[in-house]
Amino acid sequence: MKSNKSITILAIETSCDDTGIAIIKAPAREAGAFDILSNVVASQTEIHAKYGGVYPTLARREHQNNLVPVLEKSLSEAGMLEGIKPNNTKTKKLEKILEREKDLKEKLLPFLEKYSKPKIDAIAVTTGPGLEPCLWVGVNFAKALSFYWGMPVIPVNHIKAHLLINMLQDGKIKELTKKDFPAICLIVSGGHTQLLLMESLGKYKLLGETRDDAAGECFDKTARILGLGYPGGPIVSKMAQGGGNGFNINLPRPMLHTKDYDFSFSGLKTSVLYENLKKSEKIREDERYIKEMCKEIQQSIIDVLIKKTIKAGMDYKAKTIIIGGGVAGNNELRKQFAQKVKKSLPDARLLIPDIKHCSDNGLMVAVSGYFKAKENKFEKWQNLEVDANLRIQ
Ligand code: KG4
Ligand code: ZN
Repeated sequence: MKSNKSITILAIETSCDDTGIAIIKAPAREAGAFDILSNVVASQTEIHAKYGGVYPTLARREHQNNLVPVLEKSLSEAGMLEGIKPNNTKTKKLEKILEREKDLKEKLLPFLEKYSKPKIDAIAVTTGPGLEPCLWVGVNFAKALSFYWGMPVIPVNHIKAHLLINMLQDGKIKELTKKDFPAICLIVSGGHTQLLLMESLGKYKLLGETRDDAAGECFDKTARILGLGYPGGPIVSKMAQGGGNGFNINLPRPMLHTKDYDFSFSGLKTSVLYENLKKSEKIREDERYIKEMCKEIQQSIIDVLIKKTIKAGMDYKAKTIIIGGGVAGNNELRKQFAQKVKKSLPDARLLIPDIKHCSDNGLMVAVSGYFKAKENKFEKWQNLEVDANLRIQ
């Protein structure tokens, strides 16, 4: 870490279908105010909605188109966008770095020649896990900026970022201390469902994970079966409100009673499919039926997530339960988790991010990058690699 008192990080997230760039400024060593200078996200959900899921080639193209406008907005909000005279000396090398990202190159070169280098110390970027073509756009973008502006990069693990955003509380970074461990972490997103043990800060051990679909994926796929569009989570949770029980729908709670910490959600999706097939077209289109189905899908997922997390919490005598990922934005899940932790793990504290920080965004990458910056874990842009299957350990 440099000797200056604060560090400014620009963080990039492109692992799936959200293009996010955040800029933060925080004390380089001791804890203190963590200024979020900007946190801009361009979502692609409308584009993917017609496919009922994320289409990687399309997502890659959208990231290429969105990154420069998102960067411009992010720098502008942070008060860092200043014009300069064109300077073409580095253009040739930049063209090489971006040779595989043609659309991005066409947007980025004019941008870099137009604006001066912002007061940023490092660039954090998600390097995995995620969709490989999408990750590469973000990583090549980070490489280009790092080379052009002459600043180091910080590779960030997307899963850790979803969990570590929980350390940002009331505008400050509150690191876990000895008394907060062991912690049980539940990551629930569109691509992952994992239970992890954190014995000390940054030391993770995988306890269990889904054997097939992730929880978010299950929301997305069942929403598709019900003709509700993409992404499924927010729509299913909205429809679930006010769902009754007039149709007597009983979906399974897969692996609820197994002794391990694994999950399985693909059977739930199949049950929804069969349940739907058994019904007449008239019923399938009845909003009361759809609402009831959504309520039952949501509750089935919540029941399994809570049961396994609480079991892990008890088995390991957890002092903290940390939840992260897009599904953590589900209101019912948040409410039921709070009640259950209070009741069954009265000595444990539940950490769950603000709803607006649950789905993919640049800020979570910035927080994660900040922890690495404090430990001087900077890299040269030449060493950045993508790992679409990056594990947490
Ligand atoms: O973390 P995230 O933004 O992207 C990945 O890393 O995958 O998570 C996206 C997932 C999607 O499957 C989406 O349907 C789900 O999070 N999701 C929700 C809610 N909001 C987003 N699931 C349940 N309830 C929600 N309110
Ligand atoms: Zn995510």
